[in-house]
Amino acid sequence: MEKIVILTGAGISAESGLGTFRDQGGLWAQYRIEDVATPEAFARDPALVQGFYNARRTQAAAARPNAAHQALARLQRNRPAEVTIVTQNVDSLHEAGGARDVLHMHGRLDKALCAACGYRWEAPLEMQVAEPCPDCRSPSARPDVVWFGEMPYHMPEIYDHLASATIFAAIGTSGQVYPAAAFVHEAAAAGARTIEMNLEPSAGVSSFDETLPGMATETVPRWVEGLLARRTT
Ligand code: OAD
Repeated sequence: MEKIVILTGAGISAESGLGTFRDQGGLWAQYRIEDVATPEAFARDPALVQGFYNARRTQAAAARPNAAHQALARLQRNRPAEVTIVTQNVDSLHEAGGARDVLHMHGRLDKALCAACGYRWEAPLEMQVAEPCPDCRSPSARPDVVWFGEMPYHMPEIYDHLASATIFAAIGTSGQVYPAAAFVHEAAAAGARTIEMNLEPSAGVSSFDETLPGMATETVPRWVEGLLARRTT
């Protein structure tokens, strides 16, 4: 059986109204990473960091999955292959679109994490500074997102999936953040056919066997329908 591993980035949620990071006017043009997305920033100014993620969480909660999220869920449901979705996104639009077992390597906005004991719970829309952990009561609540300088989640599992992939697709990611940017090399070394679907060529475009330029809501459903049709012919 074929095994498809899909990596998604902010570009897949752009047409749901969520801003990307590095496009013109993107989040990293409005904020400095070192001010809002590092453990040092949280230690220095927790109110600024919680405020940044509270705004992201409120936007994400109001967003709806688009045709690209829905197409990937359809691919998983129809099982022409084993399909694993790995996302760098902290929104939950894959799940809202019907996908299962999504590996959120950069965490999730809708979860809170206790920095003291590691307990996780559903984040309220507005997290407060020094909110107590419901388990150990330490005032150490933080968003359950991975900051620069921290280890992404699920890495051993993701590398296992890449090592047995027959198809690897990267969707809506600029290929500038590691380790995700190197997944294409892992998959190619395992013999997978690699494909990029992005609005503009990513930093790693030359590493892919095939590219489908365009908006995710157009390229992804077309790609999925092609895979599903191949199964029935
Ligand atoms: P970026 O903002 O770096 O890249 C988004 C990519 O999506 C760009 O290459 C765009 O060309 C493309 N794009 C935009 N709109 C699109 C659309 N409608 N259809 C298809 N492609 C589109 O976002 P990521 O690569 O996801 O990490 O960023 C990776 C990580 O950097 C994020 O997870 C975040 C960020 O800093 C952390 O915060 C740890």
